[in-house]
Amino acid sequence: MFHNIPIRYVEPVYRPPSEAQSLILPLTDGCSWNRCTFCEMYTAPQKRFRARDEAEVLEGIRALGEQGADVRRIFLADGDALALSTRRLLVALTAIREHLPQAHRVSSYCLPRNVRNKSVEELRELADAGLKLVYVGAESGDDTVLAKVNKGETFASTRDALLKLGAAGITRSVMILNGLGGKAFCSAHAQHSADLANATQPEFLATLVVSFPSGEARFRAAFPEWEPLEIPGLLAEMEQFLDRLTLQRTVFRSDHASNWLSLRGNLPTDKATLLAQLRAAIDHPENAPLRPAWARGL
Ligand SMILES: C[S@@+](CC[C@H](N)C(=O)[O-])C[C@H]1O[C@@H](n2cnc3c(N)ncnc32)[C@H](O)[C@@H]1O
Ligand code: SF4
Repeated sequence: MFHNIPIRYVEPVYRPPSEAQSLILPLTDGCSWNRCTFCEMYTAPQKRFRARDEAEVLEGIRALGEQGADVRRIFLADGDALALSTRRLLVALTAIREHLPQAHRVSSYCLPRNVRNKSVEELRELADAGLKLVYVGAESGDDTVLAKVNKGETFASTRDALLKLGAAGITRSVMILNGLGGKAFCSAHAQHSADLANATQPEFLATLVVSFPSGEARFRAAFPEWEPLEIPGLLAEMEQFLDRLTLQRTVFRSDHASNWLSLRGNLPTDKATLLAQLRAAIDHPENAPLRPAWARGL
């Protein structure tokens, strides 16, 4: 979509599916936490966490503006650009306003820990400067599961961060990992993840199926008793999760390529339909529109 981008990319670069049309603007490389045992996204040596030099970031934004690039949406990479201080983020957002005034939506991944030391006022300043949307990988609302996968967060820390972001007027898109607790924690994971969503009422909620394209060794080392859920178990966990949701106005998506059954709807309006789709797939898998294994991915 964009050509001759005057920006340095360190591969691999990840972005949410809904940012496919966005300019990817790295403010950091890698992930400041990088210890979740299920996540291999930033483990390559070249992705060791570092903040990008401010002058380099500003020069990239200025050069894009000079090219007359028609940038409408910007995704701040990498794994948690919100790890930067409010000051550094404001400098980047201000430069975007100045040089790329058509950019009406700036978004980023965000860890709960990234906002622990940022006040609601600071977050509101970021929102006013253009930060409209953050993607938060809550993964689970269950403290045992979170500890076993070394997320470094809890139900309470994630809830507090989501409420703070919401109070600042920043749209929240929350990710939950279907199957993360395995068989033993399936119910607790489903219930507490729903409780987390209910307590924070995110504007967007997405589920992905935990998958291990490069093997489970790292994950199993910290969670040796983990027994993966097969398709019926994954769907039953989703059913339990969805059934418990009391969301008032949330766009729900379970259509990432890692999911066997693609689901999309608005909650609460489509709750009954989504549950019926799940129940039909559980009762009659032979007729269900399941994604073929070859079409799945992360
Ligand atoms: C690139 S990560 C960055 C998000 C951010 N660091 C966070 O944790 O909120 C985006 C999301 O990918 C998902 N993810 C990472 N590893 C995964 C795996 N092995 N299987 C399925 N989803 C995974 C997680 O939901 C994670 O939050
Ligand atoms: S899931 Fe997010 S916080 Fe955890 S290691 Fe991956 S990028 Fe970092």
